[in-house]
Amino acid sequence: MRIIMLGAPGAGKGTQAKKIAEKYGIPHISTGDIFRANIKNGTELGKKAKTYMDQGLLVPDELTCDLVVDRIQQPDAQKGYVLDGFPRTIPQAECLTDALNKLNSKIDYAIDVDVPDENIVNRMSGRRACLKCGATYHIVYAAPKAEGVCDVCGEPLVLRDDDKPETVSKRLKVYHEQTQPLIDYYTGQGVLKTVDGTRNLDEVFQSITEILGE
Ligand code: AP5
Ligand code: MG
Repeated sequence: MRIIMLGAPGAGKGTQAKKIAEKYGIPHISTGDIFRANIKNGTELGKKAKTYMDQGLLVPDELTCDLVVDRIQQPDAQKGYVLDGFPRTIPQAECLTDALNKLNSKIDYAIDVDVPDENIVNRMSGRRACLKCGATYHIVYAAPKAEGVCDVCGEPLVLRDDDKPETVSKRLKVYHEQTQPLIDYYTGQGVLKTVDGTRNLDEVFQSITEILGE
């Protein structure tokens, strides 16, 4: 099963993608997590990506597309994957479609987690992230077992640099301009499914599993 998660920053793409990956036994591939891991490890890619991410801007397509096309060809992705945060622009979607055509493969579902802008800022300010394993929490809606510590790997949790309210507004603007057109793109491919992302985590996941099947 090959799945793309669409939705605004903070809509819950990462939260749901992790649950999908676990239930269906496919890898969760998040470009945001890949960039954050590179920033943490001080790589060249991380240094380049950070200048864009900190401003709420998108990392250039040429730094993103090859990375994902390479990742989806790894052995663990042969039965499928859930892409989270990619594609995010029409050129990225076209690059993915071209690569999949060459591999004789295709996307089965593009799931749009729909949440209005007014709900987003509240979610972001309460989000806490583990930069080591990519786990995501919310201080109210999805709290870790011990305050400030990752349940999975025990690392201290942090507020992401790009979750400051002013950067969140910029990310929402970039989302509407550059990423929302993908809803039409994947509607055109006949694979778009929309779920109401304003409900609680389990209700959203329930709707997704109804789409994907058991
Ligand atoms: P990325 O990491 O992808 O960030 P994003 O798209 O802005 O999305 P988020 O991770 O902020 O939100 P999410 O939808 O995953 O929500 P989450 O599940 O955490 O990208 C970051 C940056 O990297 C970009 O700005 C860009 O610069 C760069 N980048 C990445 N990919 C790129 C690409 N392809 N091209 C170019 N640049 C790229 O949930 C949010 C919070 O809400 C959490 O605290 C969660 O616990 C809580 N929550 C989730 N669901 C619910 C619910 N139903 N009810 C209540 N709370 C909930
Ligand atoms: Mg995310």
